Amino acid sequence: MIDSQNCVTMVAPAKVNLFLHITGRQPDGYHLLQSLFAFTETGDEITVAHSDRKGVSMNLGGAYASRLHALGAGGEKNLVVKAVHKMAKVFAKEPNLSIKLVKNLPVEAGIGGGSSDAAAVLLALRDLWQLDVALPDLIPLAQQLGADVPACLYQSAVWVEGIGEQLEPFKVPWQAYIVLVNPGVSVPTPEIFAEYKAQDTVFDMPVFDKAALCASPARLQGHSQNSLQRAAASRAPVIAEVLELLSVQPGAHTVRMSGSGATCFALFEDKEAAALCLSAIQNLQPGWWAMADRLV
Ligand code: C5P
Repeated sequence: MIDSQNCVTMVAPAKVNLFLHITGRQPDGYHLLQSLFAFTETGDEITVAHSDRKGVSMNLGGAYASRLHALGAGGEKNLVVKAVHKMAKVFAKEPNLSIKLVKNLPVEAGIGGGSSDAAAVLLALRDLWQLDVALPDLIPLAQQLGADVPACLYQSAVWVEGIGEQLEPFKVPWQAYIVLVNPGVSVPTPEIFAEYKAQDTVFDMPVFDKAALCASPARLQGHSQNSLQRAAASRAPVIAEVLELLSVQPGAHTVRMSGSGATCFALFEDKEAAALCLSAIQNLQPGWWAMADRLV
């Protein structure tokens, strides 16, 4: 949303890995992935505005603002601020900006939090500074901010390979509603990859026929997985409880963990079933975070 070019607001949606396979490991330790990223419609909100003051000022709001402060990521260390400085440098702009981040999504949760926020701020600055730059041209810059940031630029389904830099927008031939549930444990991504490595898991065979794998939710559920799920559940056993609870909800057809966890999701064909699942989870586990949305 653009307001006379003084201020731009963008949603930074939750990123959901509909599946996540690990097909190898690079000499630098990064893992080679195959994954289908999808996104929710709602999520965090970022507003960037021109400021009379020099530098970047960051204002945090939302349910998870305090968690970011506790992690020391409430200011200069936040990926959003790093993204602003990189973007300003590449496009020779003075970053005199005030930024408001409404952090609605849980942090260190496997749903792209910081990566989606960083991608959204790049898109917002492109509008605010009226830069004539195509989305794929932002990928090298996004990559320097984190492996998932390039994919998060798309904010709609994208097939991801490499360590996250090989991207192909993907048309999923079915619609889904989603319920996301986080049991309130944070699991830092590097720790889960380290655990995966320690478990000496056999790498996944590469998927060659993307269209066949994604032809229906049943095929996706039956022929793919989240290969980080075992490592994450051994660090945070409550993940198994979340998956169990989601899998008994009426109408849930695909249930798994997203990213490196601990957020898990269930997909539904209809909106009402997703809404019923959300209220069931909220009643049974009021301390857990949950949201329902449409998947894009
Ligand atoms: O790039 P980003 O900072 O988001 O990645 C966090 C950590 O996750 C990396 O330090 C690495 O340990 C692990 N990772 C990986 N392979 C990937 C992406 C991330 O091993 N493809």
